[in-house]
Amino acid sequence: MDKKKIVILTGAGISAESGLATFRSDNGLWANHKVEDVATIEGWHKNQKLVLDFYNQRRRELKTTYPNDAHKLLVDLEKKYDVTVITQNVDDLHERAGSTKIIHLHGELTKASDEYKHQVNDIGYEDINIGDKINDTQSRPWIVWFGEAVPEMENAITEVEKADIFIVIGTSLNVYPAASLLHYVKNEAEVILIDINQVRVNRPYKFINKKASEGVKELVDELMNIY
Ligand code: APR
Repeated sequence: MDKKKIVILTGAGISAESGLATFRSDNGLWANHKVEDVATIEGWHKNQKLVLDFYNQRRRELKTTYPNDAHKLLVDLEKKYDVTVITQNVDDLHERAGSTKIIHLHGELTKASDEYKHQVNDIGYEDINIGDKINDTQSRPWIVWFGEAVPEMENAITEVEKADIFIVIGTSLNVYPAASLLHYVKNEAEVILIDINQVRVNRPYKFINKKASEGVKELVDELMNIY
């Protein structure tokens, strides 16, 4: 019998217990940086060094940051289910935890591209500096900035439409088109949301009001024992 399909949408909240700041909490990234300066194409054209330094700092921090139980327990689901992780996070913690099918909607810190995002190179946790070149243009972070296209969105929708169970972990669902993935979930599919705060969702869903590591443990224990 085919494995049931689980699709998991994650946001910054799943990496909070690894020590990475979320975006919209009191001392979040957007509380300490102006989005327009570091996460828009206009900001990039205005001050490339400021943008490079912002992502260099986050990349250096990621080097000494590790997957937490939430990332790791999701991998266990792959023993019984066909699992796809769709993440808004640009960290590599799902990869390092061992998830095998991951779609990054907003790019990846460990990659760099040319100015036009035609070629993508792995750079690990290395800095990108003014003067670094790819295809004879200034290298830039492989990040989807506000206002830029989200090339992985079609792949994500295709996965979500096939989900029997759709799990949302640690995202405020504030940002589109990522948040619109909920609209592509089959009516008969089960939706489960894990968050420390209440998040508005316009369809029936099961809410696990816990931090990610505890909520994922509770959910994985249940899912590994029902079918
Ligand atoms: N456990 C579970 N949930 C948590 C935890 C935790 N330990 N800590 C925070 N959360 C929840 C918050 O309650 C919130 O709902 O995680 C969510 C984080 O929301 P945001 O900070 O808005 O992050 P996210 O939803 O991932 O942002 C989406 O916005 O700025 C862009 O590109 C950026 O990918 C990001 C996108």
